[in-house]
Amino acid sequence: MTAPATPLTQLPAWKALEAHHKAIAFQHLRHLFAEDPARGTRFAVEAEGIYLDYSKHRITDETLKLLLQLADQSNLRARIDAMFRGDKINITEDRAVLHIALRAPKGAVINVDGKNVVPEVHEVLDRMAAFSNRVRGGEWKGHTGKPIRNVINIGIGGSDLGPVMAYEALRHYSRRDMTFRFVSNVDGTDFAEATRDLDAEETLFIISSKTFTTLETMTNAHTARQWALAKLGDEKAIAKHFVAVSTNGAEVTKFGIDTANMFGFWDWVGGRYSMDSAIGLSTMLAIGPDNFHQLLAGFHAIDDHFRTAPFEQNLPVLMGLLTVWYTDFFDAQTVAVLPYDQYLKRFPAYLQQLTMESNGKHVTLSGARVNYETGPIFWGEPGTNGQHSFYQLIHQGTRLIPADFIGFSKTLNPLGNHHDLLMANVFAQTEALAFGKTAEQVQAEGTPDWLVPHRVFEGNRPSSTLLLNELTPESLGKLVALYEHSVFTQGAIWQIDSFDQWGVELGKVLAKKIIGELAAKNSPTDHDSSTNTLIARYRKQRG
Ligand code: F6P
Repeated sequence: MTAPATPLTQLPAWKALEAHHKAIAFQHLRHLFAEDPARGTRFAVEAEGIYLDYSKHRITDETLKLLLQLADQSNLRARIDAMFRGDKINITEDRAVLHIALRAPKGAVINVDGKNVVPEVHEVLDRMAAFSNRVRGGEWKGHTGKPIRNVINIGIGGSDLGPVMAYEALRHYSRRDMTFRFVSNVDGTDFAEATRDLDAEETLFIISSKTFTTLETMTNAHTARQWALAKLGDEKAIAKHFVAVSTNGAEVTKFGIDTANMFGFWDWVGGRYSMDSAIGLSTMLAIGPDNFHQLLAGFHAIDDHFRTAPFEQNLPVLMGLLTVWYTDFFDAQTVAVLPYDQYLKRFPAYLQQLTMESNGKHVTLSGARVNYETGPIFWGEPGTNGQHSFYQLIHQGTRLIPADFIGFSKTLNPLGNHHDLLMANVFAQTEALAFGKTAEQVQAEGTPDWLVPHRVFEGNRPSSTLLLNELTPESLGKLVALYEHSVFTQGAIWQIDSFDQWGVELGKVLAKKIIGELAAKNSPTDHDSSTNTLIARYRKQRG
């Protein structure tokens, strides 16, 4: 066990940060920049083609020193080594946490229970590539001999959010003559709308589920089976129109998919860390094996950086420590993620599962209740849309909302001066958030006195800017890996298990009971009075 024996709040660096916070809480970024003209370059790091400017944060050299000490005293280095070594750091499920093995180069050696898992990873990648090439090349035919033109991924959570985010992000690199859709919700509308205009003869379903038991996915998978059979009229068609991605061969067979058409992964890949496993099959079908390998190379570059870079130059470590700083010392409840790239429109949704399912925990590794805040709420929308909706609250509301701005120097769609306009907004927003506008400045513009307080921007609102060159499969891999390891860093500091998700269980169990009750003759009476009434009312209105 590599977690420190000392509770977090007893660590000397934590206590020092508490005292330090009192000293700097009221210092303004205007002042910090004024007293150090080099601040904008001193608090910036570049690695693997990603430039992180974290100068517009409410930190000083002392803050950084103490946060880095906190990382050391939290045994972060040992915990990183334990993950990369394949130790079972997911203690409540007794599992290794090895998404880093999914993108390890062929010759690497990563052992789980004494067995090198890298050859198996590449074996699956090779099978995925062969399959993708056959489908993309029109060689893999549907039951009636037509090539596949439509791919529908059925999955939920990590078996959906990664694939849909990656497809949207990399649409520029995708096969434009093929249709890719993603069905996740058990709401029948999702399936109905995804399939209503598709020809079953040209449609391939990928049933993606680590466990192959998830209610939503299995319900949608059975509906897909019926839909395909109704149109194709032959059980034999299933083999040509359904493939599975799972760790559970027995359940895949039970469903009726030949395991020859199954792409496997392993229990040491968490659902929310699985977009670069076989769960990325839809991504590979869309962008092709070469681009998928570029995506993996991007992930791997940041894995290496995270494992080897000194913490003061380590992008995910810095990002993770800043999240801890605001969550625990400024009581910030949320982090806004603001990608200034339309292709990244699903990135905040993807990050919500990655961050919140990982660090939404209130118990430490040793089972004690934490006496500090853990995982903040991640949310966001692509810029510039958010500016015309919720930025008002970030600028002038009463809450402190640290924000990550993500931008690219080059656009994939050069149209007039759109890209300069877009990026001007990134720089303008971070500047406005940090420096604001004083009452004196507002008055000097001739604003009447009564209106001045309304037009003042206090500023001192922190943000990071991540500037990358261009959105490519490789840079997307890097971006995702940055956040994966930032989440790891936060979890290590908070002394929690970032890799289990017990909090999703109770609702699933209760839903199973209620499903039966909705079909029963009489409404149930053994719930609380609210739940009983709601069920009875629903049954009555439903008829
Ligand atoms: O219920 C949450 C969860 O277990 C996620 O962690 C996971 O990504 C999702 O459900 C889907 O699980 P599966 O891939 O097993 O269908």
